[in-house]
Amino acid sequence: MLTARRRFLDRGHFAPIADRLCDLALAQLTHSTPETENRLRTVVDAGCGEGYYLGALQSHLTTRREMEVQYLGIDTSRDACRMAARRYRDVCFAVSDLKDLIPVSDRSVDLLINIFAPRDVAEFTRVLHPSGAVVVVIPQSSHLVELRSTFPLIGIEENKADHVIRRFDPGLRLAHREPLEYALVLDHDAIVDLVGMSPSHRHLTEPLIPGSGPLRVTVAVELLTFHTGVPSFRS
Ligand SMILES: C[S@@+](CC[C@H](N)C(=O)[O-])C[C@H]1O[C@@H](n2cnc3c(N)ncnc32)[C@H](O)[C@@H]1O
Repeated sequence: MLTARRRFLDRGHFAPIADRLCDLALAQLTHSTPETENRLRTVVDAGCGEGYYLGALQSHLTTRREMEVQYLGIDTSRDACRMAARRYRDVCFAVSDLKDLIPVSDRSVDLLINIFAPRDVAEFTRVLHPSGAVVVVIPQSSHLVELRSTFPLIGIEENKADHVIRRFDPGLRLAHREPLEYALVLDHDAIVDLVGMSPSHRHLTEPLIPGSGPLRVTVAVELLTFHTGVPSFRS
């Protein structure tokens, strides 16, 4: 799953998601701390996988040289953390279950990102600085729909983003939501990797059809930004 995910992401198929995440992250980090307060920011990726999004964010923010940031990715998978740490040398990775413990102190995180991974409102609320933000990437029900109609992949619940917004409230309040949708044309290798990086691949009984593709698939996600429900100096 991890090598399939890395190959797929390295081919740039989800780069528009990473790009938009970087824009939102920069806006939040710039906003969360007044320019006069030149403190070190902390960014955590909860459910970081092999590190693609946190690595992209670290590279984006480092290039801009606007602030000093420390980065932590956490994942329950030891193999994922190891793979991430080998590539992203300036980022820390820790094996941890985000529902049990994000291994940082209370109110210490300026930006928490969470992409296609489980969430935990209690732990997110505990670690978030009062002026911090959470950016969550959630698939829409039409995400990869063409792949789902060809392969028996696990479905995506309708209005998933609305459920997350309701579950987060009142600890985390929605500040911004935006859809991101585009089409990809995937060749056979990319289809094999996309199916292979999905948790459903374990349930696939039929082997992938040799020579399948090219296939046009829809990428449809929502990026949700949350702020803490507690009062802060945020304007
Ligand atoms: C679909 S992958 C997404 C990985 C990465 N965010 C990305 O988009 O490439 C979900 C990730 O969440 C991790 N994960 C699942 N449950 C977790 C938990 N309770 N705590 C931390 N990580 C978890 C998995 O190991 C996996 O790496």
